[in-house]
Amino acid sequence: MAGSQWWQHGIVYQIYPRSFQDSNGDGIGDLTGIRQRLDYLAWLGIDAIWISPFYPSPMADFGYDIADYCGIDPMFGTLEDFDRLLADVHARGMKLILDFVPNHSSSEHPWFKESRSSRDDPKRDWYIWRDPAPDGEPPNNWLANFGGPAWTFDAATGQYYYHAFLPEQPDLNWRSPQVREAMCDVLRFWLDRGVDGFRVDVIWHLMKDEQFRDNPPNPGWHPGMPSIDRLLQHYSCDRPDIHDVVAQMRAVLDSYPERVLIGEIYLPLERLVAYYGEQLEGAHLPFNFQLIFAAWKAEEIARIVAEYEAALPAGGWPNWVLSNHDQKRIATRVGVAEARIAAMLLLTLRGTPTLYYGSEVGLEDVPIPADRVQDPWEKNEPGLGFGRDPARTPMPWAPGHAAGFTTGTPWLPLNADCQERNVERLKADDRSILCLYRRLIQLRRTEPALDRGAYVHAHVEGDLFAYERRHGDRRLLVGLNFGHNPQTLTLPADAAGGRVLLSTHLDREGAMVAQTVALRPAEGLIVALDG
Ligand code: NOJ
Ligand code: CA
Repeated sequence: MAGSQWWQHGIVYQIYPRSFQDSNGDGIGDLTGIRQRLDYLAWLGIDAIWISPFYPSPMADFGYDIADYCGIDPMFGTLEDFDRLLADVHARGMKLILDFVPNHSSSEHPWFKESRSSRDDPKRDWYIWRDPAPDGEPPNNWLANFGGPAWTFDAATGQYYYHAFLPEQPDLNWRSPQVREAMCDVLRFWLDRGVDGFRVDVIWHLMKDEQFRDNPPNPGWHPGMPSIDRLLQHYSCDRPDIHDVVAQMRAVLDSYPERVLIGEIYLPLERLVAYYGEQLEGAHLPFNFQLIFAAWKAEEIARIVAEYEAALPAGGWPNWVLSNHDQKRIATRVGVAEARIAAMLLLTLRGTPTLYYGSEVGLEDVPIPADRVQDPWEKNEPGLGFGRDPARTPMPWAPGHAAGFTTGTPWLPLNADCQERNVERLKADDRSILCLYRRLIQLRRTEPALDRGAYVHAHVEGDLFAYERRHGDRRLLVGLNFGHNPQTLTLPADAAGGRVLLSTHLDREGAMVAQTVALRPAEGLIVALDG
C-alpha cells in the first residue's frame, strides 16, 4: 500500500482564491484566474490543488460562511468556469481538492433562515437551538473563535443558537440524520462533477457534548492569548462520537474511485491520530500542523518527527504542513534564509506535503494598515496579532502594476518587495527559493526514497538535524543546519561516501562527499550515499 495512492506520493498546493489571480480587474482573484495560472503550477510540479471556499457567501469570514453548498459565488465565477477549471486541471494530470465546510453554514443559508423562522419549523433541529439559562443568559459558557460568546439570542423565537465562529456562521446539528444526509449529498454533488477530494474544515468540531456541559477554565490562559482559549474546548469539540461522522463522509468518498479525505484538525498528537479511524476508516490525511507551532530548533523538530512517526497507526499515511491561510507565513516565522531549510524539510520528510501558495517565492506576512483590515478576527480582537490578512495577500507574479495579480486595486496590499520578489523574477534566477522548491519537487517525484522510503533518524547535534530516507538500496541523507554557524554533517559509518544531490544554496550539486561535509549557516543538503 505504501505510496501507491496518488495522494500519498503527490504534493498538495493550497490556493486562497481571493489572492491567486484576478482575471476581471475587480481586485479579487477568481476561478478563471486560477485557470490562467495552471501552467505555472504544472511547471512547479505539484500534483494536486486545494482551493479554499469559492461558494456563494456573504463573506463574513471570506467564504467560510456558505450560503449555498452547491454553487459558485459570482465574485469567483460560475459553475461553467468551475467545470472548465476542473477539466484543465485534469488535462495537466493534476487533481482538484475542494474545501468542504460542514460545521457551520452562513446565517444567510436558506436552511438557517427556515430554521430560525419558528420553533416548529421542520428544519429547526438542523441547527443548535437551546433555551436561555434561567437568568436569561446563554445556555452555557462556551466561547466563540474570533471573540465573544458562542451563543446568539434570537428574540423572535426566544432561543439561543450556537456558533463556534461568528454569529453569521451558525453551527449545523450533526446529530440530525437529515443534516448528515443533506451534507453527504453535497459531497456527491461535487464528486459527481469529478473533484478528487475534500479538505474538511474544522472536522473535529462537528459533534458537541449532548448535555452541553460548561467547558472548564484553561489554567494556561493569559491576556494576549485569544479569548476563546480562556476555556479548554473539552465539551464543544473532539467528542468521541465524531469518528462515526468522519467514517460516514469517508464512506461517501470510498464509493468513488481514488478520492481523498483530508481533515483540518488542531489537536495534540494523540488526539490527532485518532482521526485516521481505528480501522483506517477515517480521514486519509488528518492535517499534521505540528511544524507550524514548533520552535525552530533542530532538536525540537527531530523530536516532533520521531514522535509523529511513532504515533501513526499501522497503515496511516503521514503528512506535513508548514503554513496555511490561518497562520503566519513560514518566512515570517523562521526567517527568509531559514525558509529554504523549511522547504527542504517539508519536501524530504515521509508523508504528503502541503504547500501554501506564495511559500515558494518566500513570501512574508504583509503588514496591513488599519484602514485596510479585512479579517473579522482582527476586527473583533484588534492589535493582538491574531489577524490573518497578512498571510493572505495577493500572489506576486511579475514586475508591473500590482505585480500582475490584477489590473485593478488589489483587495489586500501586495508585499512591499513585489517588484523583485515575484514569480517571473525568481524563475529567471536559478539560485532563487522558487527554483529550490522546483528542484525539491522534481527530486521528490523522481526519488522513491523521498516519496515513499522509510524515515530513519540519523543524529541531532546542536543546530544540525540529519536523517535518512531509504528505499531498497537507495539511501539519501538529509542534513539541515538550523543555526547561524557552520556545522559538520557526518556520513554514517557504513557509507563509503556520497554525492550531493541538492543544496538549499543550489551551488554544489554533484559534489563528492567523503566522511564529513561542512554545512554553511542555514544550509540543507541531500546526499546520495554510496555502498
Ligand atoms: C478554519 C478555516 O481554515 C478558517 O479560515 C475559518 O475561519 C474557520 N475554519 C471557520 O470556518
Ligand atoms: Ca476577479
